[in-house]
Amino acid sequence: MQQEPLSQPPTSPELFSLEGKIVLVTGATGLIGPHHCAALAEAGARVVVADLDKNRCEQVLQTLPAGAGHLALSLDVADPAALAETRNLVLQQFGRIDVLVNNAAVNDMFENPALAAEQSRFENYPLEMWLKSIEVNLTGVFLACQILGAPMAERGSGSIINIASTYGIVGPDQRLYQKPGGAQVFFKSPAYPATKGGVLNFTRYLAAYWGKAGVRVNALSPGGVANGQDDWFIQNYAQRTPLGRMANPQDYKGALLFLASDASAYMTGANLVVDGGWTAI
Ligand SMILES: NC(=O)c1ccc[n+]([C@@H]2O[C@H](COP(=O)([O-])OP(=O)(O)OC[C@H]3O[C@@H](n4cnc5c(N)ncnc54)[C@H](O)[C@@H]3O)[C@@H](O)[C@H]2O)c1
Repeated sequence: MQQEPLSQPPTSPELFSLEGKIVLVTGATGLIGPHHCAALAEAGARVVVADLDKNRCEQVLQTLPAGAGHLALSLDVADPAALAETRNLVLQQFGRIDVLVNNAAVNDMFENPALAAEQSRFENYPLEMWLKSIEVNLTGVFLACQILGAPMAERGSGSIINIASTYGIVGPDQRLYQKPGGAQVFFKSPAYPATKGGVLNFTRYLAAYWGKAGVRVNALSPGGVANGQDDWFIQNYAQRTPLGRMANPQDYKGALLFLASDASAYMTGANLVVDGGWTAI
């Protein structure tokens, strides 16, 4: 009797391929977003490049491997109506969403350096900043999952990646923001870690809720990215980091591709930490 040929398991390149997949990246035009978009497009995906400013989305789109039919659109993740419009547009154009990357966030800054240390003290931290961070970083992720993730759950497959932070896992080390000699330049926000910690546990909630629906929900926690900061800060950060440096914005491409693709098919509710060892000590 002739035996059925054994079915071949996917090869490693097949596991990491996003050929034909539709992915949407929020906050896509900042420091790291364009590299997320590049990682996904280079793996074969059609990328919906979404951020507040449509022109900047177009610019990022122009940098992606050509010919794959990407889409640029303006999207405020804190606005349910805008998210619903985006969902309708993407479903109309592509028929589905396979991967959602919730990357948009605010990381508040104090404009006047002379006042920053005083204004950023926890005792003085403004309620408006707290509320703005909650609105974008936490409510924005909740709304994007609810409105853009629901069609994934209806289709029975998808991968959602919520971008968190090392500061969702540990509290900020305020010594990092001290110049040599000890002057505190500013204090890291209390809202940012609170929202990113919330994103991590919301990720676990949704992973459990949508597991049976075939939608995987994971978090990616980056460490700090070098972006023209003062030398003293870069040195403080590097000294505190086992790998001895800050991240480059492209250091997250591999992890993002892993979470987006079938390479992580048996992974949900997890937090993939890519931080040069920051949270290991
Ligand atoms: N850069 C870092 O060192 C670092 C470290 C850890 C985690 N992260 C996280 O990685 C992600 C990307 O960081 P980044 O450094 O590229 O930040 P960024 O500030 O450069 O970019 C964030 C993007 O989000 C967009 N955005 C803000 N509010 C929005 C809204 N309401 N709707 C839609 N888009 C909105 C902004 O326009 C911006 O383009 C964020 O979630 C951030 O918290 C960054």
